[in-house]
Amino acid sequence: MKNNKFYNIITYGCQMNKHDSERLAGMLEEMGYQPTDKYENADIILLNTCIIRENAELKVFGKLGELKRYKRENPDLIIGIGGCMMQQDEPVDEVYKKYRHVDLIFGTHNIHHLPDLINKIEKTRDRVVEVWDEEEGLIPDLPSQRKSEHSAWISIIQGCDNFCTYCIVPYVRGRERSRPLTSIVKEAEKLAADGVKEITLLGQNVNSYGNDLEKETTFPKLLAELNKVQKLKRIRFMTSHPRDFSDELLEKIAELDKVANHIHLPIQSGSNKVLKQMNRGYTREYYIERVEKIRKEMPHASVSTDFIVGFPGETEADFEQTINLVKELNFDMAYTFIYSPRSGTPAASRKDQIDEEVKKKRLKTLMDLQNKISYDKNQKLIGSTQEVLVTGASDSNPKVYEGRTSTNKICFFEKREELIGELVNVKIEAAKSWTLDGTIIGK
Ligand code: 5AD
Ligand code: SF4
Repeated sequence: MKNNKFYNIITYGCQMNKHDSERLAGMLEEMGYQPTDKYENADIILLNTCIIRENAELKVFGKLGELKRYKRENPDLIIGIGGCMMQQDEPVDEVYKKYRHVDLIFGTHNIHHLPDLINKIEKTRDRVVEVWDEEEGLIPDLPSQRKSEHSAWISIIQGCDNFCTYCIVPYVRGRERSRPLTSIVKEAEKLAADGVKEITLLGQNVNSYGNDLEKETTFPKLLAELNKVQKLKRIRFMTSHPRDFSDELLEKIAELDKVANHIHLPIQSGSNKVLKQMNRGYTREYYIERVEKIRKEMPHASVSTDFIVGFPGETEADFEQTINLVKELNFDMAYTFIYSPRSGTPAASRKDQIDEEVKKKRLKTLMDLQNKISYDKNQKLIGSTQEVLVTGASDSNPKVYEGRTSTNKICFFEKREELIGELVNVKIEAAKSWTLDGTIIGK
């Protein structure tokens, strides 16, 4: 039932956060709210925050400042802030004390309480802060207001137990908790019945799915069950931890026809010294062996990764190791980040922090190299035929349509409205570092 009230959600950060925002939107729509792009028309504005790097936090404070005038113009407007940043005391204090126009502060473990929290504010007009320190089991299944009709995210495991020494995630998302296999399969079946063709399974470390459930529940088993869901065409997943990327999993991925030809396997550094200090639980040699095995079992698969440059104590020689590894492994794509100290993590209190200028220089060297490798790899695809799931008009160029290949590359082609949501064959005619151009040659 519509109530003529409008909401706007501003989301920062990873897919997990974007998916949480879909669930926040789902709850608001069940309460009768409708979406709006314009802050001036909104009755509720929610910020879903990220804390993974410092610049994510700075953006949030900037946005809070900007929203002040909408509250001044409409005192009934409810402004709420949730997500990972709000699981830490310092930012909560700062928001509460300095941003008096914020009505609601909530955390990552209690998003399902949003309707109650809003009702409370509407009744009392008091400011409400409700952040749970500890997760209380799984967040229950919630309605989702999805952006795409044909692709959907499914959360399979919440939290992370790895405690990489640079990372704040385990502190703000809690310990690993897997969703029961049957409830995931049911959700996938329902989505497929609604016309979804592609699902992406989400978790900080999807490979440890099931470790906290009964013995037989594993990630390869989950993939095998989901592969049976009729009408579903593609299964993606992220993120994998190299340490837990087993032979059994690789064999399953290679065997199951719906599982996409793409593996995102963050390495973070090419130096064994740095990997050890990051507490990643594997060596450079082990990682190289994993990628070689992926390429042997799945010759058409793409492999992407994440790197952090400028981890405390990283020497020029350590960085050279990263550069050598990039040259050796020929990744299809890499996400590259400058190390950002996160207060409360072990690496942040180290005395041997790297100078910002050095970090920037290393980032540029790494990005330039990877862009060149991605370009060369994509050039080799010219003339090949790729299977693409048609998404619709491209954001960057509305004159063409776009979609992704099984290998997760963005591909542009001519507009064909009747093919939205279909898998089509595209002949590749041109390529850049990040995108491909082609022509549809059939279904
Ligand atoms: N600084 C920079 N990058 C980070 N990441 C995680 N924590 C930090 C940090 N403190 C990166 C890692 C991870 C990706 C999601 O974000 O590369 O794989
Ligand atoms: Fe952070 Fe490491 Fe967990 Fe990834 S695996 S979320 S980098 S602690």
